[in-house]
Amino acid sequence: MIETEIKTIDESKQGQAIEDLTPVVNNNSRKAYIESYGCQMNFSDSEIVASILKKDGYQITTNLHEADMIFVNTCSIREKAEQTVRKRLSNFNQIKKNKPELIIGVLGCMAERLKSKLLDEEKLVDLVVGPDAYRDIPNLVGEVDGGRKAVNVILSKEETYGDINPVRLGGNGVTAFVSITRGCDNMCTFCVVPFTRGRERSRDPQTIVEEVKELAERGYKEITLLGQNVDSYLWYGGGLKKEYENLTEEEKASSVSFAQLMEMVAKVDSNVRIRFSTSHPKDMTDDVLHVMAKYDNICNYIHLPFQSGNSRVLELMNRGYTREWYLNRIAAIKRIIPDCAVSADIIAGFCSETEEEHQDTLSLMEEVKYHFSYMFKYSERPNTLAQRKYEDDIPEETKQRRLAEIIALQQIHSHEQLKKDIGKTYEVLVEGTSKKSKDELYGRNTHNSVVVFPKENYKPGDYVMVKVLDCTSATLKGEAIA
Ligand code: SAH
Ligand code: SF4
Ligand code: F3S
Repeated sequence: MIETEIKTIDESKQGQAIEDLTPVVNNNSRKAYIESYGCQMNFSDSEIVASILKKDGYQITTNLHEADMIFVNTCSIREKAEQTVRKRLSNFNQIKKNKPELIIGVLGCMAERLKSKLLDEEKLVDLVVGPDAYRDIPNLVGEVDGGRKAVNVILSKEETYGDINPVRLGGNGVTAFVSITRGCDNMCTFCVVPFTRGRERSRDPQTIVEEVKELAERGYKEITLLGQNVDSYLWYGGGLKKEYENLTEEEKASSVSFAQLMEMVAKVDSNVRIRFSTSHPKDMTDDVLHVMAKYDNICNYIHLPFQSGNSRVLELMNRGYTREWYLNRIAAIKRIIPDCAVSADIIAGFCSETEEEHQDTLSLMEEVKYHFSYMFKYSERPNTLAQRKYEDDIPEETKQRRLAEIIALQQIHSHEQLKKDIGKTYEVLVEGTSKKSKDELYGRNTHNSVVVFPKENYKPGDYVMVKVLDCTSATLKGEAIA
């Protein structure tokens, strides 16, 4: 898979360590190693953790073997994600055998889901910290130093880390992520996120704009606004999720919606491109699409998961929309932003999904023809509504076969979409040197498609007009034009 696509789960980044490129001030300080799994929000949170640790005098290292403490920021979304972390913990166990003073901390969604049970199950773990308790890490490390195991998994109704300026560690210096909401109130029946991330909160728009300004000043050229459901962003003086209709007149007057926030962010610097993820079909309004159409620096790309193409299954999933509603949102995108790429998340083999209902997923894909999709087999998660209410009754081979059909169809569509770009010229923001050849650069166009082209004298951070000459099912190839 291509190295650069933004994915809800980017396989190529799983387990990546956080790297600090700033000069070391105090070489005697304790060294922390942070490894991240899961979605972009987790990677973003790891930068917050790194900021908190650095402020407290710790140094960040990418060398596992020189670390005094290892933090692993974990994901619970599917069973496989948790298995990966468990395997990793057993590797750390080996290191700890020779270095008993090594502190091992589990952060993120698995920490929140399993709480102190993790300490019983994984004997080597010293520290368990949920996503809203990162400010407490220095204190918790103090407890571990005092010979105790430490746990803080308290979920907050306020914490947004809005005032923490995350240190940008080890990125490409061109693209950055900014969280605008935390948590999720949607309660899709298959999903652990509402349990691991807590209540939905929007972050003060002023702190978001400040962060974007600072990134722009430091030379960043692309900002992706992050939230589990960016469309439900609403600031009314407080952050905890409320519906607009339930605000007082005073709150309504000063409120900021996602469309308004996007406009504020787009105006910071016309030379900085804006993306956002994830959009929710039930909440994505035409206002958002009009703002996208109005600003050239907001990319023509929407990640709009549909999960299933069948309305009965969508109802069982508690997604809050039908197939028809979803297709109406797609029609709105095509009407308001004719040249917009769309990607999706799809789940194969959800509880009681019939063969016909699976066909509805394939036919919806045919109607939309996504540029790209993230495709998963349903994985039952403990304590979710689906686990409590429905039977996980689709045999593994059937799930596998349905998923394979979805993947095969997506490949055809991805290739078809990219082939349409041959002969066209796109503005590409260069992110780095291609992994396959040091003579080539890669970047992305407005559609979020990866474009590879000969380096010449261009460098990361440049906007380059590239004429597309060829493509594979995942990448465009071209050359720079004057
Ligand atoms: N907030 C985003 C999704 C976050 S999770 C949204 O609502 O679109 C990323 C994706 O993982 C989901 O869109 C879904 O496709 C997939 N997913 C979540 N829980 C899953 C489960 N139990 N089994 C399989 N896939 C799952
Ligand atoms: Fe999970 Fe649904 Fe929230 Fe997305 S919107 S994080 S799928 S509960
Ligand atoms: Fe993200 Fe995984 Fe948690 S997808 S929100 S890290 S469960």
